[in-house]
Amino acid sequence: MLLPEILQKLNQQIEVEFYSSNLYLQMASWCEANNYTGSASFLSEHADEEMSHMRRIFDYINDTGGQALIPQLEQPPYEYDSLLEVYEAIYTHECYVTTTINELVATTTTSNDYSTLNFLQWYVAEQHEEENLFMGIVERIKMVDGSKLGILMIDKELSASALTRASSLSE
Ligand code: FEO
Repeated sequence: MLLPEILQKLNQQIEVEFYSSNLYLQMASWCEANNYTGSASFLSEHADEEMSHMRRIFDYINDTGGQALIPQLEQPPYEYDSLLEVYEAIYTHECYVTTTINELVATTTTSNDYSTLNFLQWYVAEQHEEENLFMGIVERIKMVDGSKLGILMIDKELSASALTRASSLSE
């Protein structure tokens, strides 16, 4: 059985992960419209990953005697000046997601809810990976210093990365 405070925070995290999925899908759409087709596939794939993050929490709540709630979500931003701005916004967003996971972990420790603490360890590791991934992309785009060719090459590599991730998920 989940304590009310933990249940409320897990439901808030469902909202965060759901919004992340919508945000990345919207960014994928901007990328497609602006001919960054590699990033469009990469971010579309990433939007699916965020939905799977949401579903893990959804299932955990329902498996633990609570009721998962589907949130009402804000429309994500859909205008960006550059591909760099898109990836900087993702990195900032992932840092925010990390703070929400950390707050949730802190609440489980003060409430002695070791089952939920154990469940959240996967998210702690995932946030470390995601911050690292997006910080790396931001740094690489900055390295080419606005070169269109350089940005297009990075975009192409991201497309290959989406294909690799998709095939490893289906194995
Ligand atoms: Fe599920 Fe990228 O945070």
